[in-house]
Amino acid sequence: MEQSTLQAVDDSLPIQDVNTPLGSLHAAIIMDGNGRWAAQRGMLRLEGHRAGAESLRHIVEAAPRLNIGVLTVYAFSADNWKRPSEEVDALMFLLACYLEKESVRLRDAGVRTTIIGRRDRLPAPLLNAIHLAESRTEHCNRLHFRLAIDYSARAAILEAATDEQHRERFFAETIPVDLLIRTGGEQRLSDFLLWESAYAELIFTKRMWPDFTPADLRAAVTEYHHRERRFGSVPEMALVAQAAEQAQFSERWLR
Ligand code: FPP
Repeated sequence: MEQSTLQAVDDSLPIQDVNTPLGSLHAAIIMDGNGRWAAQRGMLRLEGHRAGAESLRHIVEAAPRLNIGVLTVYAFSADNWKRPSEEVDALMFLLACYLEKESVRLRDAGVRTTIIGRRDRLPAPLLNAIHLAESRTEHCNRLHFRLAIDYSARAAILEAATDEQHRERFFAETIPVDLLIRTGGEQRLSDFLLWESAYAELIFTKRMWPDFTPADLRAAVTEYHHRERRFGSVPEMALVAQAAEQAQFSERWLR
């Protein structure tokens, strides 16, 4: 499969609203390439993650203007525990700082912030920051921003298949993905939102995550709108199929 090339866009252009007659989008992002971005500049990997956190700030800010209603980003996978402990510790620290520092801004911007993934292996400062961000932004409804931390789609599916309590939580958290973007040049899903991405439109870009801008997000959303989604049906019945697909989920997560 050829790499999708996002159209070259001018970062200085204002972000324009994108017309989505069928309602707002769930966009999911695999924010890959922080380490390589840093290496290319002779910097430490941690500095790449710091730059990645900065990039995320701008993307969250831009998302509602692109009619994105839900934004889920992969911040730390269950497999990322395999990284050197210094990098894991640094990422945990960075996540805690991000949530603590951003939660007021997120609240003021109307961004409800929640976490998906396991919580029982996270350090206490991060758990506190998660609690703070979730409670501070509970009432917000301009954008639902979800950070996947210690997340594994396979583990979540397996738990839901074998345990009633996990099943309820799984479906409560399940929001079908419309658009899935992966930066950093790789073309794989890496155990992210496997169930939810059954009919997602996939966009892979070589851009490293710290270089990914709101203009790139806009280009991805524009490309998404040029794709024909059929949900297993035929073109002339695609809208009916899409409505049926959405009806399965909407009651659970629209607020
Ligand atoms: C992938 O880059 C990125 C991660 C494993 C973590 C994502 C983290 C961030 C975007 C920054 C922290 C986020 C917040 C919200 C504070 P990589 O390290 O795999 O890069 P590489 O493939 O170039 O090595």
